[in-house]
Amino acid sequence: MIYLDNNATTMVAPEVTQVMSDFSERYYSNPSSLYPEGKKVRRFIEDAREQMAGLLRISTRTLFFTSGATESNNTALHSALNSFPKKKRIVTSQVEHSSIKQPCDAFVQAGYEVSWVSVTKTGSLNIEALRHMLTDDVAVVSVMWANNETGVLFPIDEVARIVKEKGILLHVDAVQAVGKIPLSLEKVPVDLVSFSAHKIHGPKGIGALFVREGTPFHPLVLGGQQERGRRAGTENGAGIIGFAQALQLAVKHVSELNTRVRDLRDDLERSITQAIEGSFVNGESEPRIPNTTSITIPDVEAEPLLIRLGACGIAASSGSACLTSALEPSHVLQAMGHSKELASRVIRFSLSCYSAEDDIREAVKKLKLIVSDIRKLNNKSVTI
Ligand SMILES: Cc1ncc(COP(=O)(O)O)c(C=O)c1O
Repeated sequence: MIYLDNNATTMVAPEVTQVMSDFSERYYSNPSSLYPEGKKVRRFIEDAREQMAGLLRISTRTLFFTSGATESNNTALHSALNSFPKKKRIVTSQVEHSSIKQPCDAFVQAGYEVSWVSVTKTGSLNIEALRHMLTDDVAVVSVMWANNETGVLFPIDEVARIVKEKGILLHVDAVQAVGKIPLSLEKVPVDLVSFSAHKIHGPKGIGALFVREGTPFHPLVLGGQQERGRRAGTENGAGIIGFAQALQLAVKHVSELNTRVRDLRDDLERSITQAIEGSFVNGESEPRIPNTTSITIPDVEAEPLLIRLGACGIAASSGSACLTSALEPSHVLQAMGHSKELASRVIRFSLSCYSAEDDIREAVKKLKLIVSDIRKLNNKSVTI
C-alpha cells in the first residue's frame, strides 16, 4: 500500500512498537499498587510524562493522559463550562473536527449557546468575527491549530492574545499541528491543549490534555484518583510509553517534514493540478502544515475515486466524515464557501516522514488514469 492518509492515522513507528512490546512483555501491574512491580510501572509512566513535558516545554504537572484527542476535546469543553457555571456560551470555528463540533451541538441541546467563527474562502480564521464574539458570557474559546482536511494553520499566537486580553479561557486542538510545525507552549498563552498519539506514529487510544497551571479544571471521567484526580481509570502504561517515544521522534522529524516532505507535497500538488484540468488546491495561499494537500476536482465525485485509488493500492481520503459508509460533503469546504456538490469532490493526501518520491509519482500516475476513466464514463452517460 502507498499510504497517503497520515492525517487519518499513521503507521506505528518501529521504535514505538519496540518500547511498547518490551514494556508489555515485562510489566502488567497496576501503577496504583503499592508493591515494587506496581511502583516500577508508575515510574515508567511518570518518566514518559516528564519526557513529553520536556519536549513540549511545559511543567510535568500540567499534562495528563486520556484515551485520545476526542476525549481531551470533550474534557476541555466540559471542564470550562463547569468551571464558569454562569457563562453559557462557547466560541469555536466552523471548521473544527467532529470531536468539538458534535459536543458543541449537544451543549446547544442542553441550553448553552455556541458562536461559530467563520473562515475565509481560503480557510483562514475570521479574526474580526472572533473578536466581536468575545462577550462576557463566553466560558471558553476552542479552536484548532491546524485543520485536518486542508492543513491550514490558524494564527494561534494572535488568537491567544485577543482571547486572553478578555480574560477568557482558550482551548486549542493541536492534534494535526504536533510534529508538523515546531510547537512551544511556553510562549503561547493557551490554557488547554489536546494531543493524540496515533497521528504522530504512536499507538491508537492514547491522548493527552495540557492544562496550564492555575486553570480551573473539572474532570469529565470520574471514578478514581488517577492522573491526580483529573482523569479516572487505570492508566494505559504501554500506550503512554509509546506516546512519549512517538513525540520524541516527531520532534526530531519536524525539520524533515518542513523540507523534504513539504517538497514532495508541493510536487504532488503541482503534478496533479497540471495534469488534471480544472483541479485546484484548497487553502493553497495560506500558511499550512507541510504534509497535507486538499484538492478539488470539480467534475469527479470523491467516493468512487477513492475506492478506485484504494483498489490500486493507494490510500487517500476526502478528509471528511464517513457516515454509514457514504461520504458526507465536507463541512470544512462548505464553510470555505463551496457548494455541497463541490464539497464532495475533494480528495486529501497527507504525507509523513515515511513517504517517498516513488510513492508520489505512482499516486499521480494512478490518479490521472482513474480521473480520465471516470470522465470518459461520465461523458458516455451524458450522451446516452
Ligand atoms: C483535528 C483533530 N482533532 C481531534 C481528532 C480526534 O483524535 P482521536 O482519534 O485521538 O480521538 C482528530 C482525528 O482525526 C483530528 O484530526
